[in-house]
Amino acid sequence: MRPARVFALLLVAAVGLCSAADGDKPKPKPAGELPEIKELPNPFTFGDGTAVRTKEDWAKRRDEIKNLCQDYEYGHLPPKPKMTVTRGDASTDEAAKVTMQQLTLKLEHETNAITMRVTVAWPSEAKAAVPVLLQPSFSFGPPKAPSAKSFATFTKRGIAVAQFSLTDAAPDNKRTGGVYKLYGDKIDCGNLMAWGWGFHRVLDALEGVKEIDAKKAIVTGHSRYGKAALVAGAFDERIALTVPSHSGAGGSAPYRLIYAKNEELKNISGAFPNWSHPDFKQFNDKVARLPVDQHLLMALVAPRALLQPEGTQDTWTNPEGVQQTFAAAKQVYEFLGAADRINIRYRPVGHIPSNDDLLDYADFVFNKKPLSEAFGKFEYKEDKKAFSWGAPK
Ligand code: GCU
Repeated sequence: MRPARVFALLLVAAVGLCSAADGDKPKPKPAGELPEIKELPNPFTFGDGTAVRTKEDWAKRRDEIKNLCQDYEYGHLPPKPKMTVTRGDASTDEAAKVTMQQLTLKLEHETNAITMRVTVAWPSEAKAAVPVLLQPSFSFGPPKAPSAKSFATFTKRGIAVAQFSLTDAAPDNKRTGGVYKLYGDKIDCGNLMAWGWGFHRVLDALEGVKEIDAKKAIVTGHSRYGKAALVAGAFDERIALTVPSHSGAGGSAPYRLIYAKNEELKNISGAFPNWSHPDFKQFNDKVARLPVDQHLLMALVAPRALLQPEGTQDTWTNPEGVQQTFAAAKQVYEFLGAADRINIRYRPVGHIPSNDDLLDYADFVFNKKPLSEAFGKFEYKEDKKAFSWGAPK
């Protein structure tokens, strides 16, 4: 290799890593110097006040929103590391008609390495590559060994499952281990972005599995992992369907619109300071100065499919607020001619996820199966104060 080429490659690597502390980029203004925006911020106006009129404008505004989300709320998406995947032997459970295989992902940066373990399960009788659901296991103890039977709910509907522990990508509410071990203080992201990065790494590995159609990837997660799933879908255009279940604050719920005993910005930044950008708490008493709100994160997913599963009794996750962010994000889907790619589904439940809703919506997205009337049904009055803007005609 000629020296100039080596230099260019090194430079590219350095630029990739410096996103957190980029010397050329002006430092983001502190909260106190940002303007107050009382309603949900307008996706169709750039930061300098000019209007978004075309799809090309939206692509630029989308980049601006990505930067704002990273600069203020989540920290920056870490780079893609070197990865080696080791596949275990596949074994089929004849009764459940499920084939399972373990993947071990070795992720490396310089002399640091970490491991992510993924169990993949697909319908053993599938004739062609199938869509895949990326699903973090949610347990506070050591991850339970997944059984073939537990995957059959999905494989029976023609969907493979990749199950993994997001704590391999980043421990909960700590800035040590996982991706932090790989990149040290070169990254500034909180755990929600680190977990989004973890989803992306699992998808990298699934792209090499021939039984799986990685162009039909679904990301989901419940509660804190619902927030992570939304971040994953917003920041990776390979993801076809994003399903953040009861994701609440830091997920699909607005910071600006609080209707009951919903989780507020100061609650989440106080109890889980390592989930977000280290400086996020500067907005505790300045919520209206946050240049984004969560409808903009949802809008980053557009025009790719997005389902919002919510529970009307799950007050902490602000189901009423999600109806407003949903309506606001839908304006962007409408602008992009993709209004049918975003949906919401309320159940009269507390903090409980539903596989059925995810599977029905996946059937709609991938197989054009009609949806029941329960999808898209609003439970609350439209809040006229939520936003006064709309998609440009
Ligand atoms: C806490 C937290 C929520 C989170 C939830 C969970 O209640 O305040 O933001 O969604 O834990 O992950 O179960």
